[in-house]
Amino acid sequence: MCGIIGVVSGQQVHQKLLDGLLSLEYRGYDSVGMCTIDKNSLILKKGIGKVQEVHDKHDFSRNGGKIGLAHCRWGTHGGITDENAHPHVNEDKTIALVHNGIIENYAELKEFLAQKGHVFSSETDSEVIVHLIEEFYKKVPLEEATRLALHRLEGSYALGILSLREPGKLVAVRNESPLIIGVGKGEHFLASDVPAVLKHTNKVIYLEDKEIAVLEKGSCTIIDYDGKAKEKQAHTIDWGVEAAEKAGYGHFMLKEIHEQPQAIAETIQERLHGNDVVFEDEINLSADEMRGVKRIILLGCGTSWHACLAGEFMLEELAKIPTEVEYASEFRYRNPLIGEHTLAIAISQSGETADTVAALKEAKEKGAKTLAICNVKGSSITRIADGTIYTRAGPEIGVASTKAFTTQLAVLYLLTIALAKERKALTGKQIGSMVQGIRRIPLQLQSVLAEDGEIRNCAALYHKKTNSLYLGRGVNFPIALEGALKLKEVSYIHAEGYPAAEMKHGPIALIDKEMPVVIIAPQDVYTYRKILGNIEEVKARGGIIIAIATEGDREIPKKADHAIFIPKTLYTLSSILAAIPLQLLAYHTALMLGRDVDKPRNLAKSVTVE
Ligand code: G6P
Repeated sequence: MCGIIGVVSGQQVHQKLLDGLLSLEYRGYDSVGMCTIDKNSLILKKGIGKVQEVHDKHDFSRNGGKIGLAHCRWGTHGGITDENAHPHVNEDKTIALVHNGIIENYAELKEFLAQKGHVFSSETDSEVIVHLIEEFYKKVPLEEATRLALHRLEGSYALGILSLREPGKLVAVRNESPLIIGVGKGEHFLASDVPAVLKHTNKVIYLEDKEIAVLEKGSCTIIDYDGKAKEKQAHTIDWGVEAAEKAGYGHFMLKEIHEQPQAIAETIQERLHGNDVVFEDEINLSADEMRGVKRIILLGCGTSWHACLAGEFMLEELAKIPTEVEYASEFRYRNPLIGEHTLAIAISQSGETADTVAALKEAKEKGAKTLAICNVKGSSITRIADGTIYTRAGPEIGVASTKAFTTQLAVLYLLTIALAKERKALTGKQIGSMVQGIRRIPLQLQSVLAEDGEIRNCAALYHKKTNSLYLGRGVNFPIALEGALKLKEVSYIHAEGYPAAEMKHGPIALIDKEMPVVIIAPQDVYTYRKILGNIEEVKARGGIIIAIATEGDREIPKKADHAIFIPKTLYTLSSILAAIPLQLLAYHTALMLGRDVDKPRNLAKSVTVE
């Protein structure tokens, strides 16, 4: 978490730093800071609050200079205070540094540096790095002092460093925290992610772990931790800058909810050939290997973990492959058994979630074949996995994940078909009807979005309630979990997701007339009748029922207080359609409560620390 941005240019940089901060703010909004070098002195401004608040107070536009660094923080070590905001500087304010990550051995380094006479002005782990670099910065250039200091650091870090002694140079370092280099015309950027530089350049270099980039306005050289030079290619990014802007919507979350028909269409279209699914070289598994998979382990965190749960249902039900779902954070700290012919699939929007990266590495080291389902090109997970299937959702900026989730479901569905076909678990006819089913989803999503009025009505009626229950069964149980998570994340209302039948084993005690219960109840052959029974149980206890039902269903409107309709589709695909009303319900509820929907408190979009 935390966002970092740096620019070295032939022109003033404060506006570019500010634009970068605004686009990176989803990564952390506890405090903000900027420093530039102007007329041989270091101009440092920082404080707690969001970017606009700190800018209003300190006016970053008065920071002159053609080189600078900026940072938005999601605090890990040290409270949310002005002093703990980045950039951090050494005592005589000649070196400045921004950091994303965690320095695990900072306490012993701090002690060592204090003995040498360094005086610290913050409680952060990050500040030790700037003092450590100063220790080595005697007769060597900044990148060499940095390189020597790095050998003493343990942990994860993306760094940007500048010095008054070499005022035309930025040093960028990456180790287990994301960092890219933007190659502009007569200028270079360092940034935590691509959208932060897209306004100025679409050429980026993805740094790898243990690489150091030395940036000047007209040059970029890269060395490794041994000081050896490395050649790296710049990639051209095909997202336009408008993809990372709000395009007239009040919030990124709402824009991204409405982008789902397009995002799913783009994710599926080039992989659907007639009545078939074809993954070109993405999966990187031979037909023999696909047939030989004996077990699948799905790894993820947060919303992506919910996608894993839906994937488990699809892969077992349709491709008939034994599948398990693991929280990436738990998997990495057990001693998981990886038998032969295990396929580990990591699902991550960002591709940078620290626990998911580590879990995938662990699975790979233990001999699993690995696959990533990811939305960000060139991210860490995609570089570890043997193959990557990209979701084509475009940049997701709202902290609460929406379009990334449904495109992950779409990819899992296609992957299930591809595996089922190779393993002859489904007939050609079944595959044909599954393909036809997903082809209809983008259009069907449009009609779900049109249910907005009734969803808004529910939000208006119930946004003051303090608890909610979300129930679903089968493939829609993970959707219930995801609906509850969305509400918690953006509205701060306590919500629980449960398998509908489990309700009787505890949560039913909570139901009274103050409790909205959202029940996902599509008309399917698997669970529909049972869910009708669950609705009766809630009703008998006075609960408020908001049902997600299939268009044309006449039973549910008689029983539920509110019915929100989704079109008829295959059972597995109902998960994609049912997710949308729950996203909208969370969005409208949060808005009515005056929450900061795109930047909910305490959260960050990309959790790049453990
Ligand atoms: C954070 C975000 C969630 C996201 C999770 C996993 O908690 O706030 O929206 O689902 O990380 O992120 P990933 O990028 O790995 O999907």
